[in-house]
Amino acid sequence: MLRGNIELWLAFITCVFIGAGYGLVLFQTREIPAAGELLGHTLGIVGFILMMLTETLYSIRKRSRRAALGRMSAWLKVHIYMGLVGPFMVLLHTSWKFYGLAGATTLLTVIIVVSGVIGRYIFTRIPRTLDGVEIEGALSQEALRRGRQFLALWHAVHIPIGMALFVSAFVHIGGALYYATFLK
Ligand code: HEM
Ligand code: HEM
Repeated sequence: MLRGNIELWLAFITCVFIGAGYGLVLFQTREIPAAGELLGHTLGIVGFILMMLTETLYSIRKRSRRAALGRMSAWLKVHIYMGLVGPFMVLLHTSWKFYGLAGATTLLTVIIVVSGVIGRYIFTRIPRTLDGVEIEGALSQEALRRGRQFLALWHAVHIPIGMALFVSAFVHIGGALYYATFLK
């Protein structure tokens, strides 16, 4: 269990540490860290960088045929780790206000994480080689066909949401930096 899902455990432990630091600041200042001040801003920026790496690195590795870059399965673990820790930091960045475009961006972030968890569950039910190619015969043909259909549908949801998320995140960042940081 621990070995099979090491990325989930590492992500959990990282989030506990970050959450504890956040809780400590909350306890000492008795105020929710504002999104545009030092802690909230740092959480937003670092979390967003992790999310961008989640969006890009695995896809780059997937499209590269160079095995020297490391196993696909390892890249997927890194993808999942960053795809959980990044959104968690961004969630702490929001200062728990979810209005307007920034709120919609948060919702898209939650949807992509939830769909990622579902996708991983479906993904691991379809036997694969380490390079992400399905192994014929390991399941019945019918189950394989349905599994593939499900995966195709899942990709059709997960990928456009990712793109919409980054478009709205960039608009939010541009607007927030302009109005809340530079015009201050
Ligand atoms: C997917 C990533 C992000 C999401 C989902 C997100 C979400 C949010 C939310 C919900 C708020 C609160 C809005 C409110 O106070 O009404 C907020 C505020 C803010 N965000 Fe983000 N954020 C993200 C990334 C970033 C990044 C990378 C930056 C900076 C480079 C940033 C800068 C700010 C600033 C400056 C504020 C404060 C705005 C104000 O005080 O009016 N955000 N964000
Ligand atoms: C910031 C959050 C996330 C973003 C932006 C994101 C984005 C993406 C993108 C763009 C792909 C398509 C890769 C490709 O086919 O080129 C993908 C695939 C995938 N993601 Fe995520 N993801 C996120 C979080 C997660 C999480 C939290 C999980 C699991 C717990 C996850 C699991 C998966 C799986 C299983 C695949 C399919 C791998 C494959 O078909 O080869 N993702 N993700």
